[in-house]
Amino acid sequence: MEITKDIRYVGVDDHDIDLFEGQYDVSENGMAYNSYVILGDKIAVADSVDAGFVDEWLGNLETVLDGRTPDYLVVHHMEPDHSAGIAAFMERYPQAQIVASMGAFRMMVNYFGTDYPERKMVVKEGDVLDLGGLTLAFCMIPMVHWPETMMTFDETEGVLFSGDGFGCFGTLDGGFLDTRMNLDKYWDEMVRYYSNIVGKYGSPVQKALAKLGGLPISTICSTHGPVWTDNIAKVIGIYDRLSRYAAEEGVVIVYGSMYGNTEQMAEAIAAELSVQGIKNIVMHNVSKSNPSYIIADIFKYRGLIIGSPTYSNQIYPEIESLLSKILVREVKGRYLGYFGSFCWAGAAVKRMGEFAEKSKFEIVGDPVEMKQAMKDITYEQCENLARAMAERLKKDRQ
Ligand code: FEO
Repeated sequence: MEITKDIRYVGVDDHDIDLFEGQYDVSENGMAYNSYVILGDKIAVADSVDAGFVDEWLGNLETVLDGRTPDYLVVHHMEPDHSAGIAAFMERYPQAQIVASMGAFRMMVNYFGTDYPERKMVVKEGDVLDLGGLTLAFCMIPMVHWPETMMTFDETEGVLFSGDGFGCFGTLDGGFLDTRMNLDKYWDEMVRYYSNIVGKYGSPVQKALAKLGGLPISTICSTHGPVWTDNIAKVIGIYDRLSRYAAEEGVVIVYGSMYGNTEQMAEAIAAELSVQGIKNIVMHNVSKSNPSYIIADIFKYRGLIIGSPTYSNQIYPEIESLLSKILVREVKGRYLGYFGSFCWAGAAVKRMGEFAEKSKFEIVGDPVEMKQAMKDITYEQCENLARAMAERLKKDRQ
């Protein structure tokens, strides 16, 4: 469980979860809830775990403590996947104090009926806690991605306890250190985690990164995903790029289709994009792909083309839901094209026009609207839309 001479891993893997937060598909890679023990003359524990794993976590703690008792529980973030074990910890270790921001204590009262008034230590920006042999400095990072969040920097060993920051989906499967793992699956899972969970908060993340700028960080201990030692620049680079909404050349085509007609429009657009030399083309049938993958790809690529049939005189419900998810995350700087279909009265294309305005994306090409099925003119219009998108993307190459 050793991370550094004085820091141990006591987190847990959740292999059973299908939908994190009830919405993000993690059925393939699962989820880790990380927690750490910091062993100075005094002992601090960083964060607890999800409700289903509190017993396992307390068992891990006992093993690492080997008869000693912790002096502090440092709470970086009150979301229940990290705070569910607070009450059990405080009961088991009645001499321990709890260290958190004022915002976190306000939330604690509502979650647990108490903020442990006799045992609480409120910390603010720049406060330090001397563990004896180790000094912890606290850094407030509001809205990354909740208002009460903070990070802790172990000034002695250069270890950053970053809360959800620099986290990703995926269990750790025995090896929690990046140096001991095949990291392939985590890079995409980091983009998917960031874009879906933190994605709305690009500006607070930029502020947090600026605060970390001068620190000599040797290790990042996040609450999700591997402990980063050899990949710190890469990990910070990913969070920096995503929080600036910077994206690669490429197009996400996302569409709804009931009988395949709107899908044919999507196929025609994709084929012409390829002819025009765009290599990164990702297609998502909105009824098939979990939205978290679509959102991740929208964060990855600059081009976005959305297609929808009209359904009961409205836009297709799954597309409506996706449009809402994009707007919530306040994604910036994308090029947008859109198309749709109808049988007797068109509504989808009109609704996407309203979305386009709200999104403030740069509109590319003319929207294409098809009645019932593909015709020669529809192919032409779809190809024109694809060509306009390709041209806009290629301008950025210059
Ligand atoms: Fe992993 Fe925002 O909780």
